Amino acid sequence: MDKIQINGGKRLRGEVTISGAKNAALPLIASSILVNGKSRFTNVPKLMDIASIQMLLEDLGASCNFENNTLTVDGSGINKIEAEYELVRKMRASILVLGPLVARFGHAKVSMPGGCAIGARPVNMHLSGLEALGAEISMDHGYIEAKADQLIGNEIYFDIPTVTGTENLMMAAVLAKGSSVLRNAAREPEIVCLANALIQMGAKISGAGTAIISIEGVEKLHPAQINVIPDRIEAGTFMVAAAATRGDVLIKGCIPDHIGGIINKLKATGATLDIGENQIRVQGGDIIKSIDIKTQPYPGFPTDMQAQFMAMMTIAKGNSMIHEAIFENRFIHANELLRMGADISISNGNYAMVRGIDRLQAAPVMASDLRASASLVIAGLIAQGTTVISRVYHMDRGYEGIEKKFSSLGADIQRIQ
Ligand code: EPU
Repeated sequence: MDKIQINGGKRLRGEVTISGAKNAALPLIASSILVNGKSRFTNVPKLMDIASIQMLLEDLGASCNFENNTLTVDGSGINKIEAEYELVRKMRASILVLGPLVARFGHAKVSMPGGCAIGARPVNMHLSGLEALGAEISMDHGYIEAKADQLIGNEIYFDIPTVTGTENLMMAAVLAKGSSVLRNAAREPEIVCLANALIQMGAKISGAGTAIISIEGVEKLHPAQINVIPDRIEAGTFMVAAAATRGDVLIKGCIPDHIGGIINKLKATGATLDIGENQIRVQGGDIIKSIDIKTQPYPGFPTDMQAQFMAMMTIAKGNSMIHEAIFENRFIHANELLRMGADISISNGNYAMVRGIDRLQAAPVMASDLRASASLVIAGLIAQGTTVISRVYHMDRGYEGIEKKFSSLGADIQRIQ
């Protein structure tokens, strides 16, 4: 299995271009199920998770072609409504096929995604939302089955904002009869990207990006060409790496409006940010100031950036309190950072007190999930000595060519067997 080896201590300098967003591409690709024709997606990142959803769609009968970051999906051949365990277990986001399958074919069977390292991650709100649209839901031997000859528009209230839940219900409601309103909907840029794509396909949606999304069902959708938005979490990861190494990096091809929470916190650490239309220059300060963080749904500070900021706070001046308020077990990286000499104590499961020290020491560490792996890369970049990170397949699920991008910025980083 591949590992990443980093000789720490280099300041990052140069320019890096951000790839398309994994979490925007996945629902877009699932939306091609709604269309009897060929959808075309550009700026799709080359990642394991993208390969997983492509494999899942092919298993359903769609024809896909991925070349030069462009994915075409022809949904006209779909002849199967069952997303099998062997495919779903590779990636929880496979649940995104549930809404579109039941909307177009009136019937879907999707293996129930289990929990993952960061939490139990139930899908109860996806299911109650589909029930509100008139689907009959049952559970059978680990599979969720949803049936409805015709979905009927309705009011759906989410107890808490759910990103893939909002996406699933939006994709279901666009082909429902009549109007639907999603309340307390997630407001992430990925939701807006999906809504814009569905609108291009002929759907009638308003309010995406706010907590209330209104949808007027249409009879059918038509194929469209959709560009995937830049990955705000990849941009944030490079911004933190630049500041943590006290470097000077121009992050190109990002949308600063999508990363307000990250920009705000990074400025508070003492980094200098120069924000342009589609780019951000980050210059790290000599002294990294400690900051407190609480993760929240968008536009609050993203849980997907918590681990990277924690790595940086290990060498800040002072104490930082990090409160993970979205997932119940998203501090696994803290134990690996401890092995590198960090001073972190965790209380009540989701509060971490990080007391800044002068320098981390390199150590062999293990990635437990996607963003934890990014945190360990940042830790390796600032540590003294050679860090080897194992289980980097987690990283390959969500960061396109990350070691190449870091080495182009002057990091001493390589992939080893
Ligand atoms: N939740 C429920 N019931 C549900 C759905 C969610 O209780 O039916 C809870 C979750 O357990 C969690 C909270 O609601 O406590 C929010 O979870 P959400 O549903 O928003 O998460 P998700 O849609 O499963 C997406 C991203 C995650 C990201 C979260 C939060 C995708 C494919 N995944 O997950 O991305 O952390 O939103 O922003 O969009 C990552 O990229 O590393 C990643 C984990």
